[in-house]
Amino acid sequence: MATAASSKGALVERTATQQVVVDVAGINRREFLYYIWGASIVMLLGESAVGLIWYLLPRFKEGEFGGEFVFGSDAIPEVDAKPTRVPEGRMWLSNSSEGFVALYAVCTHLGCLPGWSDNNHRFECPCHGSKYRIAGEWIEGPAPRGLDAYEFTIFFTDGSQASSNGSRDPIQLNGRTIERVVVNSGKRILGPPHGA
Ligand code: FES
Repeated sequence: MATAASSKGALVERTATQQVVVDVAGINRREFLYYIWGASIVMLLGESAVGLIWYLLPRFKEGEFGGEFVFGSDAIPEVDAKPTRVPEGRMWLSNSSEGFVALYAVCTHLGCLPGWSDNNHRFECPCHGSKYRIAGEWIEGPAPRGLDAYEFTIFFTDGSQASSNGSRDPIQLNGRTIERVVVNSGKRILGPPHGA
């Protein structure tokens, strides 16, 4: 057994069964563990911050399917006129005597895309013949319910606003003029059942 001085920077030797510590960096074992512990905490905090930012950031950009779409009054059809088709949002903007609604453009039967029939003034699915009224209610065919709709908020020129707030019912305009409509294509509400 050979033992040397144990001050910082020195070589310390103990018996063969004892640990040999070579403190060549000017730090001892306890200080080294403190540094490791501190670095771990910093890394953990950094990862948590990145995760929080990732969670808070919107997943979809505006105008991208799954995100919000903003429409000016020029995109809103006249009452009972042909609904406005918005392919990039997979939706129809429908304005009728029942009110305004942003319809999901996919048939509730097996997912085909119903088109608008000017002659019959309704949506008609080319696949198995389901038909829907202008506000999306089921008329006939194998579809199990009316067309689904997105959540939306209407901002009026008088400063008031109205939101669908999870309801599938169209929103009545009551003579107010639309300034803009914000549709959330990430929030879909199931269409009304037959006869509703
Ligand atoms: S997919 Fe529309 S009726 Fe079947």
